[in-house]
Amino acid sequence: MDMNKPSVLFIFGTRPEGIKMAPIIKAFRACDWFDTKVAVTGQHREMLDSVMEFFDIKVDFDLDVMKPNQNLISLTGDVLLGLRDVMDEVKPKYVFVQGDTTTTMAGAIAGMYAQAQVCHVEAGLRTWNKWAPFPEESNRCITGSIADWHFPPTSTSQANLLKENVAHEKIIVTGNTVIDALYEGLEIVKNTPDNEEIAELKFKVNFSKKVILVTGHRRENHGQGFLDICKALREIADTEDVEIVYPVHLNPNVQGPVYDLLSDCKNIHLVKPLSYSSFIWLMDMCDIILTDSGGVQEEAPSLGKPVLVMRTTTERPEAVSAGTVILVGTDKEKIVNETKDLLHNPDRYEQMSRLINPYGDGKASERIVDFIKQVEEEEMRQQGILVNN
Ligand code: UD1
Ligand code: UDP
Repeated sequence: MDMNKPSVLFIFGTRPEGIKMAPIIKAFRACDWFDTKVAVTGQHREMLDSVMEFFDIKVDFDLDVMKPNQNLISLTGDVLLGLRDVMDEVKPKYVFVQGDTTTTMAGAIAGMYAQAQVCHVEAGLRTWNKWAPFPEESNRCITGSIADWHFPPTSTSQANLLKENVAHEKIIVTGNTVIDALYEGLEIVKNTPDNEEIAELKFKVNFSKKVILVTGHRRENHGQGFLDICKALREIADTEDVEIVYPVHLNPNVQGPVYDLLSDCKNIHLVKPLSYSSFIWLMDMCDIILTDSGGVQEEAPSLGKPVLVMRTTTERPEAVSAGTVILVGTDKEKIVNETKDLLHNPDRYEQMSRLINPYGDGKASERIVDFIKQVEEEEMRQQGILVNN
């Protein structure tokens, strides 16, 4: 540990947090102003490990908390308790958390208890409905109420924070780091020979047909929601000449219904969660995306792919306003009808597949590091260590 440099601790635990933190960690580690440490909670195991491997991020602490079908209360307790020793050892000046997961919320609380400056990446997204997304809406609000510095991706999320009386100078609009990761990922995929997953997908899936990519995991869709989604997918597969590719999230509440209801359908390909590189390759190859994922909603417009979001509300309204994303909920008829319309109405397809970048320009991480450097410079100026401008 370098005692002369301010310590920055990154805390995260799930696949999307890993993807969205990776470019920021790299930017901090490339800058010699800071002593940068990474603590993963392991809220996700396989799905996070695959991200760390792809982005080649060295982990300093791993709490390894994941349990099968874990419970929100025990998960929160395990993360908080696990972070106690990490905080004692690192004594962070800045703690970075990202998004809205249980790890995010517990990481922010641990950072606040350690009297670090809590930095919230992807701040300010709101539905104002605590049951959708559940428990993410509350996790993000709690994190926002503790944070010292807020990094919202867009002016819409900035406005949400201002409405909640967060001081203007504590908010820095950066774009979403998911786009930084996407650009880096696409560059690597373009310049690397096909990995095994991609080779297998090319073998299994007939890419000369229209390809529909599906992902889903939201807690509020568990139960009836997933049953309806599966029925809709089955009807589309039975009545249209399409290929459906579905990398199934490892949550047992998702695996159960999806494999029970869809595994015997020849044009539905159920596969394990894909590595990030294979997934962005597949997003680029597909024609339509059906998802309830937050990250996928943000990536798809940058690739010009129309998205039907299987939720009734979204904290990411920017692409909906731009017309490339529509909300279809989990209603079977709506999912089937909207998908068929996109398959058969070229004007509509054209309209929804415009390339737009409402979530970022690939420079969000750079803005975040530059801002924290400015905070440090200001502090040095106030202490009389830095005298010039
Ligand atoms: C979590 C986040 C959600 C985020 C999503 C991204 C919370 C409460 N939920 O939901 O906000 O959008 O991740 O995917 O923070 N599992 C594995 N291996 C893995 C990952 C998960 O086996 O690599 C299984 C385990 O049985 C685990 C279960 O999935 O207990 C649920 O994981 P959990 O993180 O609690 O919920 P997610 O639905 O993944
Ligand atoms: N993703 C992936 N492999 C997959 C499915 C998704 O790498 O099989 C990536 C995707 O590119 C996006 C992120 O995972 O960046 C989204 O994660 P998820 O849907 O689990 O969570 P959310 O974004 O909804 O919180």
